[in-house]
Amino acid sequence: MNAIIAQLKDCFEQALVAAFGSEFAGTDPILVPASNPKFGDYQCNVAMSLSKRLGKNPREIAAAIVEHLNVDDLCEPPSIAGAGFINLTLKPAYLEAQLRQMQTDSRLGIAPTKYPKRTIVDFSSPNIAKEMHVGHLRSTIIGDSIARVLEFLGHDVLRINHLGDWGTQFGMLITHLKQAYPEALTTANALALGDLTTFYKQAKQRFDEDEAFRETSRLEVVALQAGNPETLKAWHLLCEQSFLAFQEIYELLNIKITNRGESFYNPLLAGVVEDLAKLGLLVEDQGAQCVFLEGFTNKEGDPLPLIIQKSDGGYNYATTDLAAIRYRTQQDQAERIIYVTDAGQANHFMQVWQVARRAGWVPENVELVHVPFGLVQGEDGKKFKTRSGDTVRLRDLLDEAVSRARQDLETRLEAENRQETEEFKAHAADVVGISAVKYADLSQNRTSNYIFSYDKMLALQGNTAPYMLYVYARINGIRRKGDIDFEQLGANYPIVLQEELELTLAKHLLGFDEILSAVEADLMPNRLCQYLFELSQKFNQFYDRCPILQAAEPQRTSRLILADLTARTVKLGLSLLGIAVLERM
Ligand code: ARG
Repeated sequence: MNAIIAQLKDCFEQALVAAFGSEFAGTDPILVPASNPKFGDYQCNVAMSLSKRLGKNPREIAAAIVEHLNVDDLCEPPSIAGAGFINLTLKPAYLEAQLRQMQTDSRLGIAPTKYPKRTIVDFSSPNIAKEMHVGHLRSTIIGDSIARVLEFLGHDVLRINHLGDWGTQFGMLITHLKQAYPEALTTANALALGDLTTFYKQAKQRFDEDEAFRETSRLEVVALQAGNPETLKAWHLLCEQSFLAFQEIYELLNIKITNRGESFYNPLLAGVVEDLAKLGLLVEDQGAQCVFLEGFTNKEGDPLPLIIQKSDGGYNYATTDLAAIRYRTQQDQAERIIYVTDAGQANHFMQVWQVARRAGWVPENVELVHVPFGLVQGEDGKKFKTRSGDTVRLRDLLDEAVSRARQDLETRLEAENRQETEEFKAHAADVVGISAVKYADLSQNRTSNYIFSYDKMLALQGNTAPYMLYVYARINGIRRKGDIDFEQLGANYPIVLQEELELTLAKHLLGFDEILSAVEADLMPNRLCQYLFELSQKFNQFYDRCPILQAAEPQRTSRLILADLTARTVKLGLSLLGIAVLERM
């Protein structure tokens, strides 16, 4: 199925050419959803924009377009309103046919893209030896959802975990552990990540306070970079220990990702410096090798340098990202590279990309996108912390969500006087708890900060995961009650849309592909959430006023199909957010 709007666009483009000549081929007809449902479903605003060019008044232009417009299969006769808006109302017969197509397609009528792109989503990317924090949680959830949408649309997606697994932090950590807990550096699994974080904090404190410690740490970094076997072994153990802990979180969240951390690019860093020098981009500034940036200046108005190699010979975060870009465009052949990090890193990426483009490492057709997100705040609006002021461990946060979901469930079961097995309860609480956390994050415009509230995210009402899961379970309840086989529906009866609420629901269902295209372009999963929320609301209104199982045929079958399509859309939509559904809850 073609998106409705795409079909209409084609019709308008033809009408424009027929009315005003071939030089109007490819003119954007400025077709948008109607500003007010009482005007219809869509409106075309092109007449106003062509007024100058054609030297005619917009109403005249609109009339000429309508005269040449052939949308009889899709719409009621178009009407012209106000300054020259062309209003369109979709015909029930057209909607019925579209729904039928959607019903018989396992992809719900959404065709894969005609232009699949090799895409890298660089997300999650926590740092070894430090615990994942809520910022990484956001990156993980948002990045996973973006990857899922792009995969579903047929893009070839590489999910990359750009782990912070290299660099100066290992020098101080290994130095400290050698003294405080040497077994950790020689024996696998001697350290849990919790302890590792504590050791990291201690090491950092000593590093900040003690000159001699700093010097030993520095030598340890040199040893690591030189490939000293003992140091490498210690580094390896620390990384493995961290991976295990990250993996636990990924399993809880059902995240698939390929580890390709900073250390992967270590052998390529010298080449980056060498090649930048050959290109004449490198300038020595106070002993460091730098590229002076265009469009970035300091307080005095002088161009800002991006340091590629420090005066002590060490490399930094930017150097690694340069090596990574080059590897991704040349080896991975990526055409779109998406970086999901907090908004604070926006400048870092602008600078690195500028240098990479100037070096000729990013072909013209390759799109580099930063997907920034805001902070997670506590209910007091301050940085999200535990009561004692520590950063919140992800594991604890997810466990807490599940345990609260469990309490809510027990209360509801008791109120409804229902008996359920332990297995049912544990599974439902897991799904609801994890979904609630994910959905609360994804449903916000990612660029703003958001307030983390267990109560809000677990509420059965509002734009929450439980609300959506409930609609899905409700439709399954109808299926069970009527003993309906959704897959066999419709063989005997047509889809008939008569009630306003049926039409509204049908139109919303058919807007799914437009939303996915929008997410594909602007990488804003909250649009998908908003779409699913409105779908659930529209279904609930329909369900409240239009009897389904009690209706006479052909209404009964037709309404069951609407219910089935709603459930399937919710299920698919949630799966693209990384959220599972429950048949009962
Ligand atoms: N490890 C970094 C952090 O915790 C995020 C890495 C993002 N990806 C990248 N290619 N720089 O902030």
